[in-house]
Amino acid sequence: GSLQMFVDELPQMPKLLGYSNGAASPKPGSLTIGMYQTEWKFHRNLPPTTVFAFGTSEDAATVPGPTIEAIKGIPTSVTWQNNLPQTHILPWDPTIPTATAKQGGVPTVVHLHGGVHEPQHDGNPNAWFTSHFRETGSAWSKATYTYPNVQHSGNLWYHDHALGLTRVNILAGLIGAYNIRDPTLEASLNLPSGPEFDRNLMIFDRSFSRDGSLYINYTGIVPSIHPQWQPEYFGHAILVNGKAWPFMNVQKRKYRFRLTNAANARYFQLSLSNGLSFTQIGSDASYLPAPVQTQSILLSPSESADVVIDFSTSTATEIVMNNNAAYPNPTGSPVDNLNSKVMKFVNAPGNPRAPDSSKIPASLVNYKASTTDAAATTRYIVLYEYTTPSGSTTHLYINGKRYEDPVTETAKSGSTEIWEVINLTADNHPLHVHLATFQAIKIQQLSNQAQFTSCMTQNNDAVACNVASYLTGPLIDIPATEKTWKNTVKIPPGTQTTVVVKFNLVDTNSPFPFDATTQPGYVYHCHILDHEDNAMIRPLQLV
Ligand code: C2O
Ligand code: CU
Repeated sequence: GSLQMFVDELPQMPKLLGYSNGAASPKPGSLTIGMYQTEWKFHRNLPPTTVFAFGTSEDAATVPGPTIEAIKGIPTSVTWQNNLPQTHILPWDPTIPTATAKQGGVPTVVHLHGGVHEPQHDGNPNAWFTSHFRETGSAWSKATYTYPNVQHSGNLWYHDHALGLTRVNILAGLIGAYNIRDPTLEASLNLPSGPEFDRNLMIFDRSFSRDGSLYINYTGIVPSIHPQWQPEYFGHAILVNGKAWPFMNVQKRKYRFRLTNAANARYFQLSLSNGLSFTQIGSDASYLPAPVQTQSILLSPSESADVVIDFSTSTATEIVMNNNAAYPNPTGSPVDNLNSKVMKFVNAPGNPRAPDSSKIPASLVNYKASTTDAAATTRYIVLYEYTTPSGSTTHLYINGKRYEDPVTETAKSGSTEIWEVINLTADNHPLHVHLATFQAIKIQQLSNQAQFTSCMTQNNDAVACNVASYLTGPLIDIPATEKTWKNTVKIPPGTQTTVVVKFNLVDTNSPFPFDATTQPGYVYHCHILDHEDNAMIRPLQLV
């Protein structure tokens, strides 16, 4: 049978301050966060699940891990420690290029998603390490990572990034939220604030066996090539902050929610029952210029939406957050009874009522515009899926290249580039570029895609294949909620999506206040983790 919905209360993950000396006059902070094998209760009626979890100690480890609170301009250092056992709790696939520890142990490395920092602190897939740094990957150089928090405030998250293991390390539980706050700006905006009314909601999906263990189908869809790799992991239960379909008691007032899709492959199309709507105020990496009221928000894996929900606008006492995203997106299975529900807000008459002096201001923040004028370089980034003659996916590549092939994306530190991202597959892919901040400015459907694809699979050169002659399809609207700087951008199938990519600080257009050009460089990839691992990922080197 399935688990009863809305019976576990939504947890707040423990908070860790990434600064010292108080928020009024903050100084740099340092944290030590470990990865532990422990047990986590995903539902009151499910036996405890063995997980990998972040925490300041084994007893404090949670799924998701602690939320790190950082302040713009104040550096946060984190020593990430691996305390995991000799063997993994989940199966992976050794036929995919994968971090392997000769002496056993679980290779892990932590990436701050959306972080602007030096490459040695980026969590390169080959900078992995095992328990107590007993063994390290070829790109490993540092046990302590420093995040300068120099970009504008936004909603980041941290997660594992080990080569070929990201999907299973994250499935096992190695995720957590990271908020960069700008106290001066936030005081002037007067949005709902404080730990009670400004909350992180990390949304993901998992399946469980009857004994509570994480369930993953690891029979490869093309067993002769990849015996244990499936192109997308989809779980039957929807979890928020580590509980299956939780409920949250709310007051009749405004709340700010930082919604992050932390799923491996599932998209969420979120909406609220009883006529309530979201007022979106920001994306994963920045505020919107002005609030946008919307009935529904489509979040790809790793996208965030910063929203306000005003529970005083409804007399309903129970408001359900629903999901309506096909999986894979956009043309896969429709949602069912289980995955169409996310969580419930309970606005009971007996709930306390404090006066609400917060506001949704008419305008928010205007960053530097997304003009293409300053762009020095245009690159073509082509997303391919490779299949057997009968159509089963064997692997995915970017520009027909493996991850280990020599770097081709060498961007000038401080510059702005145009990336024409061409999606030749049937799925939407979330593009994530480390270090950069970016946004889509144009999405156009390709016409005669079959002919273009056959040229591309032979020549792998969009210009030689005359991509311009195929750009006669309709334009696809970019929602107002995505017209700001982001760290993950959806690339719809059969389109060329034009992305302005900034390798500088968006606020000022100024170069990074650190050397971004050193080894081991960065990466960019699809954030469907099963694609990223096999191997829709490429190196990125700043010069
Ligand atoms: Cu959120 Cu390269 O990852
Ligand atoms: Cu993908």
